Amino acid sequence: MFSKYKKQAAAGAPAKASKLKAVKPDAPIAPKPAANQSASLRRPMPKTSAEAAPQDKERKRKERLSDIKIQLHKELLEQLNLAALETANEAELRAEITTITTEILEEKGIVLNRDDRQTLTKELYDEVTGLGPLETLLQDETVNDILVNGPQQVFVEREGKLMLSDVTFKDEKHLLRIIDKIVSAVGRRVDESNPYVDARLADGSRFNAMVPPIAVDGSLVSIRKFKKDKLGIDDLVNFGAFNEEMAAYLQAAVATRLNIIVSGGTGSGKTTTLNALSSFIDNAERILTIEDTAELQLQQTHVGRMESRPPNVEGKGEVSPRDCLKNALRMRPDRIIVGETRGEEVIDMLQAMNTGHDGSMTTIHANSARDGVSRLENMIAMAGIEMPLKAVRSQISSAVNLIVQASRLQDGSRRMTSITEITGMEGDVISMQEIFRYQRVGLTPENKIIGHFTATGVRSHFSERFRMWGYDLPASVYEPTKMESH
Ligand SMILES: Nc1ncnc2c1ncn2[C@@H]1O[C@H](COP(=O)(O)OP(=O)(O)OP(=O)(O)O)[C@@H](O)[C@H]1O
Ligand SMILES: [Mg+2]
Repeated sequence: MFSKYKKQAAAGAPAKASKLKAVKPDAPIAPKPAANQSASLRRPMPKTSAEAAPQDKERKRKERLSDIKIQLHKELLEQLNLAALETANEAELRAEITTITTEILEEKGIVLNRDDRQTLTKELYDEVTGLGPLETLLQDETVNDILVNGPQQVFVEREGKLMLSDVTFKDEKHLLRIIDKIVSAVGRRVDESNPYVDARLADGSRFNAMVPPIAVDGSLVSIRKFKKDKLGIDDLVNFGAFNEEMAAYLQAAVATRLNIIVSGGTGSGKTTTLNALSSFIDNAERILTIEDTAELQLQQTHVGRMESRPPNVEGKGEVSPRDCLKNALRMRPDRIIVGETRGEEVIDMLQAMNTGHDGSMTTIHANSARDGVSRLENMIAMAGIEMPLKAVRSQISSAVNLIVQASRLQDGSRRMTSITEITGMEGDVISMQEIFRYQRVGLTPENKIIGHFTATGVRSHFSERFRMWGYDLPASVYEPTKMESH
């Protein structure tokens, strides 16, 4: 009854051929002698000795399933009518794969228990319709990042911790096939002459791949999974990313339109923080966002999203973040949010912040507020703007009001380790004051960091502004916390 997903029987198919296996009657799957087959593929006997470590058994089971899967996958692809697959619904396709799998297994004399058969069918389904071994990880809600270092090593990040997963690819060719499937689905290409690609997947996940020979030991893939429910302010407070006082302060800062930079290292939670901060923006404002890969999910109604585009293989068609930003300024925004500032767009960003688009936000790659400012200076210099350093600094100090530092600590936790205000210039130097910080105290025996958030005791430079705008923060917000570990 699922025959529409099967290739049509070739003319002259032997009448004997089963209705499910009418594909290549002239190239029958030659079953090996049953005895050999069952000898090499037989499930290990129930353990009779205590030696067989459970891990070892599990590994062998996996290897065996993987062998069978590879065998079956090839045959399945030959048998399935790939054109009809596109219109097949999931249930039909699963049923079809189950039927064909059962039949091939029977024909080959392979006996599998129910669990193994179900695993096999699922993996085959993933292989045919999805992204093969990656599919399970993509569907696993607890996995944030997937990092592939060649076919045999796939790491995942769960709850801030990187760990080796038990997922592997058969070989580099298999991995390349999956990469190709991913990138061709979003209209990109990756091969020897064009060995790396950065893309956003259909589900919003961020994808980056680099293939040999640039990647020496096999293709490198990193996927930052798209979270449907981005972490909001309350989630972040609950996770101990910052405390209630800091949240109240940040709300006042965003609502009163301070220009904010979120600074941090790779994967430190910059985009998440930026996204959470944006929730404090009034719904009536017109917000334009500019990103390399659209990750932000703003809650407001009036949002225009832009995604910059790298040049194509011939080096044409680039739309840089700067192009987007310049254009955005003509689109009457109340606020501009740039996903990450890393190049010449810094000039337009600072100009926007200085000229009527206050309340704008961006992220930069830096390890502290001071470092963040040096980064901005460097970016300006690299953009070829010839300005005395003092003028550059004065431009920065009048544009940026607040630097929020996000960090991924050594125990995997992500915390806002500092909130620093830029208060102006003192001589040639930009003056700053830290308002909140994360105070580390020690380590638990399990290597978890012990620490707490605290105000530094310095009252905000903007407290009068906050008050005028109706965000009169109590003085207690600025009082240093005694001990409260998170
Ligand atoms: N405080 C937090 N607690 C737990 N998980 C977090 C926290 N902040 C961020 N994450 C998770 O960490 C991952 C990385 O976060 P995010 O994308 O915001 O980092 P990033 O600094 O923007 O990274 P990149 O440098 O790659 O752009 C995401 O999966 C996110 O959901
Ligand atoms: Mg980011």
